[in-house]
Amino acid sequence: MSDFLTKRKRTHYCGDLNASHAGQEVVLMGWTHRRRDHGGVVFVDLRDRGGLVQVVFNPDIHPSCHAEAGRIRSEFVLAVHGLVRRRPEGMENPDLETGDVEVMVDELEIMNESKTPPFVLDQMTEISENIRLKYRYIDLRRAEIQRNLILRSNVAAATRDYLHGEGFIEIETPFLTKSTPEGARDYLVPSRVNPGTFYALPQSPQIFKQLLMISGFDRYFQIVKCFRDEDLRADRQPEFTQIDVEMSFVTEEDVIRIMEGMIAHLFRTCLGRELPLPFPHISYRDAISRFGKDNPDLRFGLELRDLTEILKGSGFKLFAEIAAGGGVIQAIKIDDGKGLSRKDLDDLKDFVAQYAANGLAWARVNPDGWTSPIFKFLTPEEVAAINRKMDAHAGAVIIFLADSPSVVRDALGNLRIHLAKKLGLIDPKALVFTWVTEFPLFEFSEKEKRFVSTHHPFTSPVLEEVPFIESDPGKVHARAYDLVLNGSEIGGGSIRIHRKEVQSLIFKALGFGEEDARNKFGFLLDALEYGTPPHGGIAFGLDRMVMLMTGAESIRDVIAFPKTQKASCLLTDAPSPVGVEQLMELSLKIAT
Ligand code: AMO
Ligand code: AMP
Repeated sequence: MSDFLTKRKRTHYCGDLNASHAGQEVVLMGWTHRRRDHGGVVFVDLRDRGGLVQVVFNPDIHPSCHAEAGRIRSEFVLAVHGLVRRRPEGMENPDLETGDVEVMVDELEIMNESKTPPFVLDQMTEISENIRLKYRYIDLRRAEIQRNLILRSNVAAATRDYLHGEGFIEIETPFLTKSTPEGARDYLVPSRVNPGTFYALPQSPQIFKQLLMISGFDRYFQIVKCFRDEDLRADRQPEFTQIDVEMSFVTEEDVIRIMEGMIAHLFRTCLGRELPLPFPHISYRDAISRFGKDNPDLRFGLELRDLTEILKGSGFKLFAEIAAGGGVIQAIKIDDGKGLSRKDLDDLKDFVAQYAANGLAWARVNPDGWTSPIFKFLTPEEVAAINRKMDAHAGAVIIFLADSPSVVRDALGNLRIHLAKKLGLIDPKALVFTWVTEFPLFEFSEKEKRFVSTHHPFTSPVLEEVPFIESDPGKVHARAYDLVLNGSEIGGGSIRIHRKEVQSLIFKALGFGEEDARNKFGFLLDALEYGTPPHGGIAFGLDRMVMLMTGAESIRDVIAFPKTQKASCLLTDAPSPVGVEQLMELSLKIAT
């Protein structure tokens, strides 16, 4: 056992020290961030989760400590006792929070050594993320990630405070369960005791939270892991955390009001930011037509405008033909096009090609016409009508795209964001929230050739539209709402179906046969017959929210042990093969 630890207790975190501690004796424990030997005096930047402080080993003050300090290398674990003093005049380090002081060490214990670490903690730019993830326990020593995880902990605590204060009860729901339909693939877990059968890890606690409403808990919440086997992106992980909420006897407005209160509470207590309430609403239709996306980034303009009416009869064959074939011509306008060179404009073709767009046209607006590859194809009347519709004045640049509605929407929706970033149109401090409402209940899946739920199949339709579920499903709206922050969907929910007839109608519209529906969700259909209150709720993506709160670039920077884009853990090497014996025990055989 360490002598030091039995004798002494830590008095401060390294980062806590400042000029007010001068003259005090302190005990610190931490890691060697940097060590410098300046002509006999050894300086160590000692680091713990609180920050860094300079500790000094001076041969004139304490020769034996100084001698021992000669052994210290990066990431050695140290315990020191010493006197805090103000740094000598002119030696202060304004870049360091503790830069006014240093600790003159009179007792040192090297508690453990370290191999030379695979990377230096404050020179992260050149390090590949794969190396960082393999040595995640070292990577996690970085101040930036520690700050992110501390904020995450504060957000979770503030969530619990707020929801407990509003009368919500935290209830855990099972991980070994049956498939829940959130639209991704399930992770399956084989059952040993029931050979040939599988549990599914929950994509969300959706069905259980509805059952809890049927049981009368009235207000439920859980901070809970969800598992989805889907294609990963910068803001998606195969396991992620939701703040999951459900309430009985409520309307959309009730859920929205209580959840806005929660979000405002989190930003106030964890970031010191006041959010203006209520948040604005935008309909799904407007979001798509003005911004090309159902998670619109409202921090900047560059709205999409439709020019199909103006151009469908144009002498410019390309546009006329696309319009005649059911396509659309849409455009966005940049008021000040100076930042876009001719080459920049020509290169935008390659950007939109990612979204399957075959071409793009641009026009630079002059006082007397356009500079544009398509100017010669258009009549002066068409040019004037476009300028009017786009509200374009001299100096502006207009970017046109003609294609099928979905390609145009997707390409311009993403181009808008690309240009806003490139042209610096986004205020990095802005927090712009919006609720997106009036979603369609169903979307037609070209792949599956059937209607699928826009959210999940328990979402209530707008009641007056129930009669259309069979005759014209595309027309029915959902009582659903998503919360979008700076173009990122941070939460989504709905009022649920609480009547069995309606739920059965929906399953039918989704193409589940009677038996299919019973197999998958029979227990829910049964439960709906035993006194189900009207209810609704929402779930927020905690990882995504914390990512936006910290300004992190990737969701992986706010998760202690994340997976890569290929859903593997480089630290533990999961997933990995298992032995034949283990497979046999589970009655499994690998086919390939
Ligand atoms: P939904 O599927 O919209 O709703 O999920 C809610 C929120 O969870 C976050 N999210 C993710 N975050 C990280 N990685 C992922 N793979 C991932 N998938 C989703 C998003 C999203 O807004 N049961 C419903 C909620 C309800 O109706 O109450 C549900 O799960 O921020
Ligand atoms: P072309 O006659 O093929 O050279 O095309 C004339 C102009 O139309 C060029 O400036 C192209 O960039 C532009 N263009 C081609 N395809 C599209 C499209 N799908 N949407 C918008 N502009 C396009």
